[in-house]
Amino acid sequence: MGYVLIIGAKSDIAIALARIYAENNYSLYLAARQVDELEAIAKDITIRTQQSVKCVELDVLDYPLHQAFYEALPEKPIGVISAVGYLGAQDMAQDDFVEVQKIINTNYTGVVSILNIIANDFEQRKSGFIVAISSVAGDRGRKSNYIYGSAKAALSTYLSGLRNRLYSANVHVLTVKPGFVNTKMTEGLILPAKLTAQPKSVANDIFIAQQKKQNILYTLWLWKWIMLIIRHIPEWKFKAMSL
Ligand SMILES: NC(=O)c1ccc[n+]([C@@H]2O[C@H](COP(=O)([O-])OP(=O)(O)OC[C@H]3O[C@@H](n4cnc5c(N)ncnc54)[C@H](OP(=O)(O)O)[C@@H]3O)[C@@H](O)[C@H]2O)c1
Repeated sequence: MGYVLIIGAKSDIAIALARIYAENNYSLYLAARQVDELEAIAKDITIRTQQSVKCVELDVLDYPLHQAFYEALPEKPIGVISAVGYLGAQDMAQDDFVEVQKIINTNYTGVVSILNIIANDFEQRKSGFIVAISSVAGDRGRKSNYIYGSAKAALSTYLSGLRNRLYSANVHVLTVKPGFVNTKMTEGLILPAKLTAQPKSVANDIFIAQQKKQNILYTLWLWKWIMLIIRHIPEWKFKAMSL
């Protein structure tokens, strides 16, 4: 079937995605920082599915290395999925611009740097799919996480433009907007159970949406309607709310 490149592959959602894609006969490149920590998972996936799973080192903040990283892949992927993300600490970011840069660069600049390179290749080859996990946090800025939210908003806008540009080259782009998901990122946070998804169900939704060439996916599905309401609250009212 060909290789799918998963970036940010140590994410709980990415690991669930890796298993689903391998079960559906795709080979995998798992790209992450300190990628050796993924070797055991890669072996386990290979044993269960007989698919080739290669671990490759990638830090999305090492922009100058991205072209060489992509060129070094032994076989070019037929699709890429980014699960890279950093929630950061909003409180700290309000005082510390280093934290602001880390949030913006991890969620936006770094992902754009690597996706630009892959998009150009897919455009030339006139095939491929690009999936990136953004967030409902990018749909409207809230005081509790607006630095992270603004980086995700930028990512969603970038993906919208990329989808528009690559349509005529037969390259499909899927924007994923999860609500709450039970992962390392949200460890320690108190999340409403009915609005919180498990990584496996998010991964399943992503796989189906990618196969169906859907453009934007909200997961859990309920978040599509929650965000529709939230986006329509007038600003004069929204600014006084505690969300
Ligand atoms: N959990 C939620 O409620 C939720 C909601 C909406 C959207 N999302 C988005 O879903 C995606 C997956 O997140 P998750 O919930 O599965 O959390 P996660 O387990 O913390 O995954 C985030 C991944 O990003 C990787 N990463 C961070 N900085 C990186 C860098 N410089 N280079 C390469 N990789 C880097 C992390 O790698 P390390 O393991 O090396 O740190 C980690 O594996 C993210 O885009 C996140 O923003 C999550």
